[in-house]
Amino acid sequence: VVRDGARVFELVTQAGRTRIVDAGVADTWGVNGALLGPTLRARRGERVLVHVRNDLPETTTLHWHGMHLPAAADGGPHQAVEPGATWSPSWTIDQPAATLWYHPHPHGQTERHVYRGLGGLFIVDDDEESALALPRDYGVDDIPVIVQDKTFDDSGRLVETDRVDNGMLGDTILVNGTAAPVFEASATRTRLRLLNASTARSYAFGIDDDRPLELIATDGGLLPAPVPTRRVLLTPGERAEVILHLEPGESVVLRSYPQELGLSASRARTTGATDELDVMLVRAVADPRRSPAPPRVLAAAPDLHTHRVAATRSFELRSDRINGESMDMGRIDEVVTVDTTEIWEVRNAHGQPHNFHVHDVRFQVLSIGGEPPPPELSGWKDTIYLPPDVDIRLALRFTDHTDPAVPYMYHCHLLWHEDKGMMGQFVVV
Ligand code: C2O
Ligand code: CU
Ligand code: CU
Repeated sequence: VVRDGARVFELVTQAGRTRIVDAGVADTWGVNGALLGPTLRARRGERVLVHVRNDLPETTTLHWHGMHLPAAADGGPHQAVEPGATWSPSWTIDQPAATLWYHPHPHGQTERHVYRGLGGLFIVDDDEESALALPRDYGVDDIPVIVQDKTFDDSGRLVETDRVDNGMLGDTILVNGTAAPVFEASATRTRLRLLNASTARSYAFGIDDDRPLELIATDGGLLPAPVPTRRVLLTPGERAEVILHLEPGESVVLRSYPQELGLSASRARTTGATDELDVMLVRAVADPRRSPAPPRVLAAAPDLHTHRVAATRSFELRSDRINGESMDMGRIDEVVTVDTTEIWEVRNAHGQPHNFHVHDVRFQVLSIGGEPPPPELSGWKDTIYLPPDVDIRLALRFTDHTDPAVPYMYHCHLLWHEDKGMMGQFVVV
């Protein structure tokens, strides 16, 4: 709905019951329904107003992951919505087309709230992306693929307590809340908007016959050019858009393969990195619509490396802490000056898998272990995997929104780690 010049979304977080597996019905949480939530969509330049009503028995929040917006609208732990209350943030969309998402962010409870089913996509559109010959018929040749892993007991209920050292690892893979999903493709090219909405598990997506996928976008939007790739690594919170090409009548399996995460062999096993899992069956109809090949040029490459650097900060992740500190809602860790470009050096000094997510900004990866990033990490990102003992340099530019009182977050997006305190706060002034 558009009202008074703003696109208005009415969201209600609520408890419900969902039969996800045949064994029985699970208690789940969702937005405007029993499990997950609607795909929100808005265009660059549009003003949005979201009403979030919390009908859950617990305090929660909704955070717009990847969105450039005022800190007070961010939906992080400082924008708690009490049971029965409504929170109504508003902001103007001002960033390129991208696949973003929303999920709860209550301090210390994020893993459980996401695991129970709160979350959804937020797609940003713009004129540049709309002018390209890319699949964009939502639900037809442009489909959300929200991937999550959950464990069910013998009566089909969610098991919430089975943690290993990176959090909860499920043995059942769901796409958009559905187990053993099948997608019928009615065009020869399908755009998959992949989101790793798992709390702890990473995926390396590929096709069972090893055909390449064309990677066209990462967290913050389109890549400079499509990158053909056989594996797309997504750690929790990361997104990628890929184009899958199928001949008429073909059927393939989207699968997750063992991942190269730089972990010891035993750590790789206990954190799920050695698992091979079927994600979704994709079947082309006998007489699909013929889609054009994607354009060879998609978007301008990030250029923050050409900027003057106003400050360099270092972040070391180790044992549930960042730079030795555990998250404290009352402490501001970093103060950033608006309209400046900074370099953040991030290091995982821990044998465990961690990643790093920053609110409000899209960043450019400058180097990984001193080397320039591979093509699949050369576009805009907001979350990046941190292999143990590798220095990663990011360039970030903070613009438009200042607020000395309300912080944004940076944190590990393995949600159990975040809940345990691997998170810090920054303000932009
Ligand atoms: Cu998707 Cu602070 O997170
Ligand atoms: Cu976020
Ligand atoms: Cu972590």
